Amino acid sequence: PLGNDRTATARAHSNIALIKYWGKRDAALNIPAVGSISLTLDALSTDTRVTFRSGLEQDEFWLVGTRADATRASHLLDIVRDSSGVGSRAVVESTNNFPTAAGLASSASGFAALAVAASAAAGLSLDDRELSILARRGSGSAARSLFGGIVELYAGTRDDGLDSFAEPVLPPETWPLTVVVAITELGQKSVNSTAGMGGSALTSPFYPAWVDTGKDDLAAMRLAIANRDFEQLGELAEYSCLKLHGLMMSTRPALLYWNAATMAAIHAVYELRASGIPVYFTIDAGPQLKALCLPEHAGTVADALGQVAGVQETRISTLGHGAQLLP
Ligand code: PMV
Repeated sequence: PLGNDRTATARAHSNIALIKYWGKRDAALNIPAVGSISLTLDALSTDTRVTFRSGLEQDEFWLVGTRADATRASHLLDIVRDSSGVGSRAVVESTNNFPTAAGLASSASGFAALAVAASAAAGLSLDDRELSILARRGSGSAARSLFGGIVELYAGTRDDGLDSFAEPVLPPETWPLTVVVAITELGQKSVNSTAGMGGSALTSPFYPAWVDTGKDDLAAMRLAIANRDFEQLGELAEYSCLKLHGLMMSTRPALLYWNAATMAAIHAVYELRASGIPVYFTIDAGPQLKALCLPEHAGTVADALGQVAGVQETRISTLGHGAQLLP
């Protein structure tokens, strides 16, 4: 309500990695240890308004109308304040276009929208690469949600992280792919990925192999995409997913994100495939399964997954666009 408020609103879509990242090569700058390739999801988006307001004593974070912990948002806002000279604290208001209780609330769409809105509200004019780097400081996967379609995030080699940003690989219209999300657990009870990969990832004896083999997986996925080879894309995505979960399960303490319905949904995907439908799964740091398929099979895949014991609901998503400022 104050005359000197500086405000901006942005929308970003969530994304799901085909070739996963896990582990950091620099925790303070949040630089991933390996690169990753993802699909931006049209059906899952976050709108975030940032208002810098003088006189405010601390940053406030409101998630769908409820006051929430602002620590991680403040960290990103501090970076924006440092580079813009804006000193005020901010009110951050976020809403999701999906039920927040569904356990799909994603740091990817959240931090991408926050990076775009906060930098605009502070009067910075950052290019896409700078915005991607800023979003990465909040959450690694958020760097990818700056862009639509198929996106690659580079691990880079520089100590300052300035070569660890995402770039679009294919725009969303070029190769229409569909993701069917099978929600196996309502509510977010799992260890979040930041806590999950902080430190404990490194206790797995498989971790060095995970980092060593990452480059080959990325190269193979780039080739599958260039050739529009859906079966190759799907096989590589399942391989990267299972390799990641093998890594997680072999840490101390172990990270086991699946529940019984996650496992049942994996087998349902195998059965669909045995019946001739090209469909593949991927799973992040939580119990939900995301099935990758072609648009013509989305209905069949959603019906089959919806019938799996323990699957609460399914959502179908096409590929979405990159983050944008809203008027
Ligand atoms: O973006 P973060 O730091 O929350 O980590 C994402 C980790 C995975 O979702 C499991 C993999 C990925 O590349 O998105």
